[in-house]
Amino acid sequence: TQNAMWGGRFAAGPDAIMEAINASIGFDRRLFAQDIEGSRAHAAMLAATGIISDKDAEAIREGLLTVLSEIETGKFAFSTALEDIHMNVEARLKELIGEPAGRLHTARSRNDQVATDFRLWVRERCDEAVGQLSALCMALVGQAEAGAEWVMPGFTHLQTAQPVTWGHHMLAYVEMFARDIGRFRDARARMNECPLGAAALAGTSFPIDRHMTADALGFDRPMANSLDAVSDRDFALEFLAAASITAMHLSRFAEELVIWSSAQFRFVALSDRFSTGSSIMPQKKNPDAAELIRAKIGRIFGANVALMTVMKGLPLAYSKDMQEDKEQVFDAADNLTLALAAMEGMVRDMTANRDNLECAAASGFSTATDLADWLVRALGLPFREAHHVTGSLVGLAEKKGCDLPDLGLADMQAAHPDITDEVYSVLGVHNSVASRQSYGGTAPDQVRARIAEWKERLG
Ligand code: ARG
Repeated sequence: TQNAMWGGRFAAGPDAIMEAINASIGFDRRLFAQDIEGSRAHAAMLAATGIISDKDAEAIREGLLTVLSEIETGKFAFSTALEDIHMNVEARLKELIGEPAGRLHTARSRNDQVATDFRLWVRERCDEAVGQLSALCMALVGQAEAGAEWVMPGFTHLQTAQPVTWGHHMLAYVEMFARDIGRFRDARARMNECPLGAAALAGTSFPIDRHMTADALGFDRPMANSLDAVSDRDFALEFLAAASITAMHLSRFAEELVIWSSAQFRFVALSDRFSTGSSIMPQKKNPDAAELIRAKIGRIFGANVALMTVMKGLPLAYSKDMQEDKEQVFDAADNLTLALAAMEGMVRDMTANRDNLECAAASGFSTATDLADWLVRALGLPFREAHHVTGSLVGLAEKKGCDLPDLGLADMQAAHPDITDEVYSVLGVHNSVASRQSYGGTAPDQVRARIAEWKERLG
């Protein structure tokens, strides 16, 4: 049978394969609420501008509310023959209210309709991501506050570098996730222009009021170019780009949690609620949530690349290729939501092992830089020479199988005769972190100052 929406010029209906490749209802049904909201705004505008009668607009409004409740209560029969959510809704509206339903699509195309629906959907997910990221930041600030002065090893190349504080490490992620919040906010602000009224691509000869529909749908203004309005998917790409960077941050942290929760590190214990067991090894408590978060970046980054690739060769204006935008964004958004929720839960529940952190911080000659700095400050050595002297002491300690503070003064003075026992005061890890008072440094005072600022900013 012919398509009721566009079958006028067709003598035969589509092949089954044509129908299968063409249909998007399997996934774009998720846009039903946005589609109906957009249609309601459009119908109200058509009545306000005298393009359709108030009576017809009222019938459309009532009918759309019925369709909405049918979908929400699972009573709606979606049809693949009707391709997508837009035509499914309109066809049902026709069944419900008859002739006025056919007036809804005046001065509108599915091209501006889908662009509007999808923007509304992505806009909402930007807001959701901002909310979830804020909650995660609060959880991290909570961890930072609990252990603002706890000492742990700081790493470069995953080799012991210098002692840092637990609070400082937690706040490093707060900085990252807060930048992610900024990216979602920027993307939202830029995408908040309304494509509706661009019609197929050229605008319309009907006296529509695009400012009215833009306003009704919470957009800042209508998009200024009808060709751009129906061909642009930057908004979806910006969402995916922000999601990709967020996922990358989540993945780095997840990787640390996997390492930290291992028997070899024992920096943190993840809660039972966010761990799983093994079916064969009774002792196991696995950080599966962290591992899955680490893996999610593959799909989110993949969605970004996929949509970039869909868009990169498209001439203006709409091409059906663009129907492939939605599944990628839906999947990325769903997995981002899940990953953020899991990370927040893990962070809230996890317990850092203060003693193990501190013990690890003191190993691996982590205060060698402090020793070199002391040689510069107390003896006036050039840093390069101080570095060399300290290196020889590290070599000696390594040979003796002890740590730097365990070397006797005679050993120290063999490396440089002017060394006094004052040197031992800088070799402790607490001393080391407390001395990093430069702005943004790891000293507990600095960390506490940043915690106070974050609490204020995150409200
Ligand atoms: N289902 C389509 C999509 O998601 C709606 C727009 C169809 N427009 C068209 N001219 N065929 O992109």
